[in-house]
Amino acid sequence: MTEHKIPLAGVIGHPIAHSRSPRLHRHWLQTYGLDGHYIPMDVAPENLEQVLRSLPKAGFVGVNITVPHKEAVMQIADQITDRATLIGAANTLIFLPDGKIHADNTDGYGFMENLRAGAPDWDPTSGPAVVLGAGGASRAVVSALCEVGVPEIILTNRTRLRADKLREDFGQRIRVVEWVQAGNVIEEAKLVVNTTSLGMMGQRELRVPLDGLQKDAVVTDLVYAPLKTNLLLEAEEAGCVTVDGLGMLLHQAVPGFERWFGERPAVDSATRAAALR
Ligand code: ATR
Repeated sequence: MTEHKIPLAGVIGHPIAHSRSPRLHRHWLQTYGLDGHYIPMDVAPENLEQVLRSLPKAGFVGVNITVPHKEAVMQIADQITDRATLIGAANTLIFLPDGKIHADNTDGYGFMENLRAGAPDWDPTSGPAVVLGAGGASRAVVSALCEVGVPEIILTNRTRLRADKLREDFGQRIRVVEWVQAGNVIEEAKLVVNTTSLGMMGQRELRVPLDGLQKDAVVTDLVYAPLKTNLLLEAEEAGCVTVDGLGMLLHQAVPGFERWFGERPAVDSATRAAALR
């Protein structure tokens, strides 16, 4: 008789206590009545490879990877998807039956699914997107925007060099402007995305003037604590459709959960409530 193995998955970060992923995956496991466990693991950078090589032997079918390991894991993985290569980071690992590590990046997918759900009338081809920030999250957002055919991405970042690097990697569709110009280019935008950590609880506020914002522009923030950032509140006041960042976190988790536990989970209001609990 073959023994039925309960699949194990989890999230690796350093630190990890803040992660909402365990609540989210446990909610789905319970909702669908599935056998499985999802465990937060605090792993220091120097131990990452050793831990990743051991987990498949302990019954793990995969893990999510979060700060600060998303780039480092690319050096360890045996197979990497094209989108993870382009972004330069991975957030979802699948352990193959022979122990090999397959790395993917679902952040761009999560971003786009969240945007589609929250702003169904947004047409990617309607005009430029302004993206604030050029860190890891921005790379995922920019790759997703390129994929759906946004004609121009106006990118601005405090550190100009990082934005220039994105242009090098993603091509001519990216126009880099100085950080101080952010308020001026916003008037061209059909979509505004904040990928910086500004506006997050405990961080400084994002101070970009929104006076020029078009009424039919969609504004979204990757920051989800608080759920309604000042950027979203101001955009709402200006009459724009706004999309908060929690949905990106929920949607990016879908492909991993499906692969590890065998059911494609729905992202609905109960999922949001579970992640916020
Ligand atoms: P993530 O993976 O979440 O994108 P990151 O790679 O550390 O994290 O990027 C953080 C982003 O927030 C960057 O665009 C960063 O700007 P710099 O590249 O200039 O560091 C931006 N950011 C963080 N603090 C900022 C601040 N005080 N003012 C302006 N931008 C800030």
